[in-house]
Amino acid sequence: TYVVTDNCIRCKYMDCVEVCPVDCFYEGENMLVIHPDECIDCGVCEPECPAEAIKPDTEPALDTWLKLNADYADKWPNITVKREAPADAKAMDGVEGKLEKFFS
Ligand code: SF4
Ligand code: F3S
Repeated sequence: TYVVTDNCIRCKYMDCVEVCPVDCFYEGENMLVIHPDECIDCGVCEPECPAEAIKPDTEPALDTWLKLNADYADKWPNITVKREAPADAKAMDGVEGKLEKFFS
C-alpha cells in the first residue's frame, strides 16, 4: 500500500484524490490518509503530490504512518474531488514536526 505521511499535514493539496482509480483517500481536517486495504498499489498518486507526502510502505520507518492511515481511513469520510488547498499550504511545506504540532 501507499501511505500519506507528515508533509501532507496543513498542505493538503488534494491532487492525489483526482488520480486514484479506486477512490481510497479519506479526509481529516488537516490531512488525507489512504485506506491500506483499498489501495491497489498502482503508484500513480505518488508523483502527483506537490508536497511529496505519499510514499510506498516499502520505505523504512513508516510504521507510525501506516498505522495512522489505517486508523483514520476507518473514521474519516471518503474524498474523491479536489477542493481549494489551505491558503498557507506553501508556507507549511516542509515545516518540521507537523504531527506533534498540528495533527488533530
Ligand atoms: Fe490510489 Fe494508486 Fe495511490 Fe493507492 S497507489 S492510493 S490505489 S492512486
Ligand atoms: Fe496531501 Fe499531497 Fe494529497 S499534500 S492531500 S497527499 S496531494
